Amino acid sequence: MRPLIVGNWKCNPATKKEAQEMFEAIKKGVENIEGVEAVICAPFIYLGLLEPSLFLGVGAQDCFWEEKGAYTGEISPKQILDLGCKYIILGHSERRKYQNETDEMINKKLKAALTTGLYPILCVGDKKRESKDDLKEIDYQLESDLAGSEGLDLSKLAVTYEPVWAISTSKGGVAATPEIVEEGISYVRDILYKILGKVTTEKIRILYGGSADSTNINNFIYKSKAEGALVGGASLKPQEFINTVKNARKI
Ligand code: PGA
Repeated sequence: MRPLIVGNWKCNPATKKEAQEMFEAIKKGVENIEGVEAVICAPFIYLGLLEPSLFLGVGAQDCFWEEKGAYTGEISPKQILDLGCKYIILGHSERRKYQNETDEMINKKLKAALTTGLYPILCVGDKKRESKDDLKEIDYQLESDLAGSEGLDLSKLAVTYEPVWAISTSKGGVAATPEIVEEGISYVRDILYKILGKVTTEKIRILYGGSADSTNINNFIYKSKAEGALVGGASLKPQEFINTVKNARKI
């Protein structure tokens, strides 16, 4: 499977002009880069303005679980798909923290996104890592997030192992070492085996997220066996994101 490199712009940038300029610069820079799937997940308000290409997909960072109706402020998977998006980040730790998103909510969102035909990028991870035991909280996250998803097309799913303590270098996060990432990725894979079985798990890409950039991406993919990465801060600098996509290829 090609590595999947997903830029997570979070609540950036502040204007639509900047968003369009950044996206166009990235689109130009990743043109003709074969062997890697690159995506930008932007704030909802910019989605219809960013035209995906063969080399750069577009995604959202959240959705609601109903298709439409009296749910003030919500955006549905169908509305996202209709804007030309293919991907959707779900269960990001910042939403779990600031919006009190629970695994039960994430489960409903995941099933709705898959039923609609979107490609979800589900985030799970440990809040601290003093010992391997700290990884146990991922069991509950994956079991709840994936409950009842057996009949859905899980080949569209990617799961991101995001140790919360490694997110956002700008806030003091330090990328995890390739060894820690390898341990986290194989832990996630083992739980997926248990929940979904080997055949289904082998169709699901397992990514790493947390201060990934052009300098460390190759290690995460080729040493830690991540099948891609969720890239926050580094996706806001077009040349840095382009280099991250380039360096995700085997070198
Ligand atoms: P970061 O963000 O690359 O800035 O650490 C990653 C994420 O939160 O998805």
